[in-house]
Amino acid sequence: MKGVILAGGLGTRLFPLTKITNKHLLPVYDRPMIYYPIEALVNAGIEDIMIVTGGRKSGDFLSLLGNGADFGLKHLNYTYQKGEGGIAEALGLCEHWAADDSVCVILGDNIIEHNIAKAVRDFREQAVGAKIMLKEVPDPERFGVAELHGEKVVGIVEKPKEPKTNLAVIGIYMYDNRVFDVIKTLEPSDRGELEITDVNNWYIHDGSMSYQVLDGWWTDAGTFDSLIKAGVLVSEGGANKMDG
Ligand code: DAU
Repeated sequence: MKGVILAGGLGTRLFPLTKITNKHLLPVYDRPMIYYPIEALVNAGIEDIMIVTGGRKSGDFLSLLGNGADFGLKHLNYTYQKGEGGIAEALGLCEHWAADDSVCVILGDNIIEHNIAKAVRDFREQAVGAKIMLKEVPDPERFGVAELHGEKVVGIVEKPKEPKTNLAVIGIYMYDNRVFDVIKTLEPSDRGELEITDVNNWYIHDGSMSYQVLDGWWTDAGTFDSLIKAGVLVSEGGANKMDG
């Protein structure tokens, strides 16, 4: 399985912090934001990693990360997303590199307390389909929200005004190689983006979507409030812990 970190987009919700730099280079406590998703993949045993960047400061990722020596890696891959066509568009840019492999995708502004090693192991055994991670949150209207029937996810709604559950779909997704064909069938949403929620609903309708509820805390860091919350959570106990 290969790892993909999506660090494109313009980070407009953090303007003017993101006026002259990429959101994922901003500090979260004692490290740049992008360090956390890289560490999450490495902790799960995924070492072949692509970083999708964008914007005017994308070259700074190379200066910061190089070949990934800070994470014990020998090599990192980079690609460039022009504009802000959505999470699914950014993932689609990895098709050639992924070749026939499956992928574990992490949004560059998502930070977790524990690790996803078990979910990754389970998905390797599942082999076909997709896997999402869910987390109960107090503010589901900010996220993709999952509806469950028994043990099955039956649908996901992106940022619903009236969420049916408080189960957010966090920004960690695992897909078999069909994902790249699915992305080619998508139409832009009302916000002009190719939505990852549409990809996930395709797998749900295919009957090949599994899920796991995440242990420990999870946060994004893409708004002023969540950025400061992320910094506090990390400072209080650290992220990407190997226990739990
Ligand atoms: O954080 C989890 C949520 O992330 C999910 O619950 C939602 O279903 C999913 O759509 C997404 O919601 P956001 O609207 O918060 O995503 P945002 O636009 O902030 O993008 C998240 C990351 O994805 C961002 O840090 C970088 C990457 N991205 C985003 C876009 C729009 C790209 O690489 N390229 C893009 O064009």
